Amino acid sequence: MRILAAAFLCAVAGVGLAQQPQQPDPCDRKTRVVGDVTYCDRYWECVSGIPQLYDCPNGLVFVGRNRGIAEGCDYPWRGAYCDGKQLANPPISSEHCDWLYGIFGHETSCTRYWTCWNGTATEQFCIGGLLYNEETHACDWPQNVVGCQKHPLCKDDPNANVPLGKSCERYWACQGGYPRLQRCPATLVFDKQSRRCVHPPTADCEVPTTTPPPEGELGGFQGDDNRNFNAPRPQRRRPLPPARDNPLPDEGRFAPDNSLPFRADNRPIGPLQPQGGNIRPPPIPGALPFNN
Ligand SMILES: *[C@@H]1O[C@H](CO)[C@@H](O)[C@H](O)[C@H]1NC(C)=O
Repeated sequence: MRILAAAFLCAVAGVGLAQQPQQPDPCDRKTRVVGDVTYCDRYWECVSGIPQLYDCPNGLVFVGRNRGIAEGCDYPWRGAYCDGKQLANPPISSEHCDWLYGIFGHETSCTRYWTCWNGTATEQFCIGGLLYNEETHACDWPQNVVGCQKHPLCKDDPNANVPLGKSCERYWACQGGYPRLQRCPATLVFDKQSRRCVHPPTADCEVPTTTPPPEGELGGFQGDDNRNFNAPRPQRRRPLPPARDNPLPDEGRFAPDNSLPFRADNRPIGPLQPQGGNIRPPPIPGALPFNN
């Protein structure tokens, strides 16, 4: 048995030697770091004159010193880093995270996704009517995201304007079933009856007042516009007491959990980049430096 095992090891080693390109020595490099020639999720670093082998954080691949999101490692889909190489490590999965580090689609929603840092998932939202694109791992225009559900907001009429809560200025403009966050031009308010921007007052919105409304009456919006302004600007229009809103029912082909976040800034953004400190695991023990 032992002989068999030894023979097997020799065979594997022989194949390895025959096929692998020579591993460069990180101690010959100015950066003191070099990627492993076999595994794209490993790299060698010269530590006190001795080459040491390291794993990238699980889910990341080596891209070069001082590059990537952590320890010279980055998301594999950002480049062809694994072409002709293998992964040394299998995925370590946790709830919502296929790997400990990465950006992953949401189980039930096209407007949400997960960023994972050391296996801890943080829910993120695509805003302004964008949807999470699993191919680019970023928020994208709906027409670029195949197979995603349209939004319940636009269920009754795929091309209608839909009021946004109690807001007098903002509304959703449905385009082909996908909502985009819009704002009425200055001095106009959104009229829920005609579903257009009109001159106030309307049934729900008064003419602008001279006193600023108290905080937090914008119905779910995070105040974005309160910075960067020194010059006088039009007062927010005070909503009247709320009428009973009938929430749109979710059914059919729409995802049940697909509500849009009410964010006041509607610029397209990519996924947030997780940030963290030193996450490098210890060197892989017993890794043989190169036989040169
Ligand atoms: C990652 O999470 C594990 C357990 O959840 C913890 O033991 C470890 O210290 C964490 N590592 C880092 C670098 O935060």
